[in-house]
Amino acid sequence: MRIVLLCAVLVVLAKGSTPSIVKSPSPRASLYYGYVTPGDRLLSRSYVQKVAVPHTVQTQDVTYRGNITTRISAIQVVEIGYTQWATPWLIAGGLGGNNVTVRIQSARGYGYYYVIDIWGR
Ligand SMILES: *[C@@H]1O[C@H](CO)[C@@H](O)[C@H](O)[C@H]1NC(C)=O
Ligand SMILES: *[C@@H]1O[C@H](CO)[C@@H](O)[C@H](O)[C@H]1NC(C)=O
Repeated sequence: MRIVLLCAVLVVLAKGSTPSIVKSPSPRASLYYGYVTPGDRLLSRSYVQKVAVPHTVQTQDVTYRGNITTRISAIQVVEIGYTQWATPWLIAGGLGGNNVTVRIQSARGYGYYYVIDIWGR
């Protein structure tokens, strides 16, 4: 039963890869960059969620901007609950900078639910 389900999902994913959509570098559910070191604070925590829409790939960009002295040390984009095979990746900014933009793209016909934590000082 589980294998049958997995195959069905793979077929759905394969069908979803049309050239017109932006494809992320590597599909994985959660994303971890950098390390939280002593003295770092949680600069931002945001929850992003979309419900499934049939036959649709949903995409969302989430941006954090610090002030001029902000240094981002870790970025954690963690899937909540059961996996829905979405993919997060960094499209701008990042570690050592003061801003970061994370793009989240759902699998076709699925939604997603993530918590995005930005650590730094
Ligand atoms: C700049 O942001 C940092 C957090 O990254 C904060 O600790 C600091 O107080 C801010 N400075 C100013 C001038 O707002
Ligand atoms: C965002 O951070 C990058 C480095 O990660 C920096 O080059 C860029 O200037 C920053 N953009 C803004 C608007 O602060």
